[in-house]
Amino acid sequence: MSGEFARKVSIFLIVSPIGVMLVPNSPKPFRLMFVCLGNICRSPAAQAVMQALVQGRKVADRFEIDSAGTASYHLGKLPDSRMIEAGAKRGFKLTSLAKAITAEHVANRELILAMDRENLNNIRRMSNQDSHNVRLLSDYLDETWPRDVPDPYYGSDAGFAYVLDMLEAACPKILDDCL
Ligand code: 4NP
Repeated sequence: MSGEFARKVSIFLIVSPIGVMLVPNSPKPFRLMFVCLGNICRSPAAQAVMQALVQGRKVADRFEIDSAGTASYHLGKLPDSRMIEAGAKRGFKLTSLAKAITAEHVANRELILAMDRENLNNIRRMSNQDSHNVRLLSDYLDETWPRDVPDPYYGSDAGFAYVLDMLEAACPKILDDCL
């Protein structure tokens, strides 16, 4: 039985005086992680957009969503205030604290989505294992969007808004693919 199959249809046995029953177990949550460089702009925003989406679609209990960075510059910090503000304008609440991705995260997530190709390559190199579950966020977008979610950190407010445009376009497609 594949891991994916087991995750979706796990069951457990109840043995009672009247016989043995097969009872469907509640499925294990789908663990989804978004990754950027600093974990204070793009990936916390992706986490918040996706969290709002699963809540809106009433499937939040089926997901565990978090985010991380490939660099350790901002460990323990809240997202960048410019990203918090841009998210708030669209109703998203960014509350994550920055952490650095580890090989263990890669082993313990069904899907890891990198914001750009440089981070994708760094995750694959760092994980030192089969990283079939590590993909690029823009794999879920058509060619009218760039391959990389542009790093907004050294740019203007428009860059933060554009990150959200990309995330709001990609997240419904990611969710449809995960369900
Ligand atoms: P993020 O943006 O990868 O989207 O969180 C950045 C945050 C901080 C830095 C670079 C990018 N930095 O150089 O400190």
